[in-house]
Amino acid sequence: MRPTGWFQVAWSADITIGEVKSLHYLGTDLVAFRREDGTVAVLDAHCQHLGAHLGGGCVVGNDIQCPFHGWVWSGEGRNVSIPYQDRPNKARRIRSWPVAEQDEGIFVWHDPNGGPPRWELPNVREQLGAHIAERKFAPVGPDERSLKAGIRVHPQVIAENAVDPHHFRFVHQTPISPTVLHEETDGARWQAKVGFGRRWSDGVDRPDDHDNTIQIMWSGIGTSWNGELLGRGDDAAARIIAICTTPVDDQYSDIFATYWIEDGAEDHAERLVQAKAALDQDISIWHTQIYLEPPGLATSEAAGFRRLRRWANSFYDVAG
Ligand code: FES
Ligand SMILES: [Fe+2]
Repeated sequence: MRPTGWFQVAWSADITIGEVKSLHYLGTDLVAFRREDGTVAVLDAHCQHLGAHLGGGCVVGNDIQCPFHGWVWSGEGRNVSIPYQDRPNKARRIRSWPVAEQDEGIFVWHDPNGGPPRWELPNVREQLGAHIAERKFAPVGPDERSLKAGIRVHPQVIAENAVDPHHFRFVHQTPISPTVLHEETDGARWQAKVGFGRRWSDGVDRPDDHDNTIQIMWSGIGTSWNGELLGRGDDAAARIIAICTTPVDDQYSDIFATYWIEDGAEDHAERLVQAKAALDQDISIWHTQIYLEPPGLATSEAAGFRRLRRWANSFYDVAG
């Protein structure tokens, strides 16, 4: 179940220019470094000279130098110099991972067969809708980033949360299950909108009801963004939550959660605490959940789960 797609491996703020970081994701030791030109490169961690871990090395210009004998490798994994020989070793390559950096995150493309990226990460704000794109959000600092490391969950299970309205009542204590208002798949992208007030389910407009909605967008099974609108009409508060799940190995994943709270909100800290609570509630279930195929679904939820699992299957290499 090693999925193909984009997976977050760090936040942009984690790797400054000249910084080298050792990582372990998708069953692989990796090294990430930010080059002088500002871009991040991610390579398999081990030097192709004699196998030293490049995590102890340093950035020289746009390249990385191995700490063992000083061989220098480019971000594309080519050997560019050997300090005690007049020409580099052109025959050896270190695997280089395609990298994308956007919305505070650093993402790598993973394909078990080594293929190039099949899609680009979306323009998040635009895709979440005009009501999100028009708003201004506070800058993301350390408090708005939360890493849940070593959770025993596969990314697909997290994606299934979005077609699972009934868990909201029991896990997130909403008074009623939300209504799935819209669902749409377009290749690697999967989008849904759920509504939380009673009005969504029975169409009755009560003055004390709210019309909270979440616009959920997945790009592959590794990256997702929720655009939430809380409250009513023009007074509704917006926030964006990114939940990006990266397999560490076949059993465990790291979850990168990033929170954008509307700029200038006086109760910023409170809104943040509230936003963060939901993920912990979900994790308490995921961490000990097992995967059932097929699951024993109620009639009303079967179609949504079936569609989501069919979509998720497109990211596994059945042959490999
Ligand atoms: S092992 Fe890297 S330079 Fe020798
Ligand atoms: Fe949930």
